[in-house]
Amino acid sequence: MLSKLQPLTRLDVTKTYLPPQERYNQYLEEIWQQGWITNNGPIVQKLERNLETYLGVKHLQYVTNGTIALQLAIRAFELTGEIITTPYSYIATTSSILWENCTPVFVDIDGKSLCIDANLIEAQITNKTSAIMATHVYGLPCEVEKIGAIAKRYNLKVIYDGAHAFGVKINGTSIYQYGDVSTASFHATKLFHTIEGGAVITQNSELSEKLFLSKAFGHRAEEYYQVGINGKNSEFHAAMGLCNLPMVDSIIGQRKAIFERYAALLSGLPVRILQIDKNITYNYAYFPVIFETHDDMLKVKAALEQENIFPRRYFYPSLNRLPFREGEACPVSEDISQKVLCLPFYHQLAQQDVQRIALIIRKSL
Ligand SMILES: Cc1ncc(COP(=O)(O)O)c(C=O)c1O
Repeated sequence: MLSKLQPLTRLDVTKTYLPPQERYNQYLEEIWQQGWITNNGPIVQKLERNLETYLGVKHLQYVTNGTIALQLAIRAFELTGEIITTPYSYIATTSSILWENCTPVFVDIDGKSLCIDANLIEAQITNKTSAIMATHVYGLPCEVEKIGAIAKRYNLKVIYDGAHAFGVKINGTSIYQYGDVSTASFHATKLFHTIEGGAVITQNSELSEKLFLSKAFGHRAEEYYQVGINGKNSEFHAAMGLCNLPMVDSIIGQRKAIFERYAALLSGLPVRILQIDKNITYNYAYFPVIFETHDDMLKVKAALEQENIFPRRYFYPSLNRLPFREGEACPVSEDISQKVLCLPFYHQLAQQDVQRIALIIRKSL
């Protein structure tokens, strides 16, 4: 009996990395000494500069979360009309388009990369299309060159939802350098986190200034330049980021080892896992498994839950099938969203737990 071999500790799909408390306390000391807790304080500024260096990007604005980052990006270009987007992502990708009074136009995904299928984009462009907003799903890159060429041809903006893509590189170049703007999420479930948080990233300094103003009510001191919102993040959140950033490389290393262990243990089973091309520096953000059938997925999910293990149907449903949205058919995305489970995957996941999960899957199939 599996349950007799190991105690039934609950295993969730993610577990947040927390730095040594003394390290966070040092920043708390600093905050108390400065008496400056929000509004572009020194710790926020330091985090922004450190992230720009770590990620290899020119301009990064730290904001309250990855959803407001998407909304700020849409606003920065004053987008209207239709935005071509992916149905296979977290709901924030679609809801931010709707929240900004634009219309999402779903283009199906490529079955291998799970990102928007660049070959299908052109057919959906109309005279109302203003942008392409695509997600680097699970941190695997979209076809950035093809998408860039289409956008240029039709004069469209490109926004990449890079919520999963922290630290990913394409041929040694940061994934966040592609598109007009990229966004990131630093939510507690992400591999690099600041409790809540996110970023808007661009290589364009004028746009970065606009994004700075957008997140801070549109003004600097007594000069009012534009309409803005409050998307600023606090010194306390930034301090968590400064504690975690030096740990990211070792966290990614641990995740890589777990990824490879899962891959070896699941080999030979009727499942598909992520394939990482050689030119990609991957961040090992997620471990999705795509089963052959919906029934297989449900069977495995039930068997894992029986053992107090909670994978996540991420992403389900396909966003073109959201109840409040009459979306176009996207057969590939709809099919995969019926068959995918993200397995528990985090830096401290024990080797015996990986083995236990793989064994339960093996026995269920
Ligand atoms: C692809 C994607 N985009 C956007 C978001 C939203 O980020 P946040 O939770 O920081 O608002 C998430 C969050 O999980 C996400 O997975």
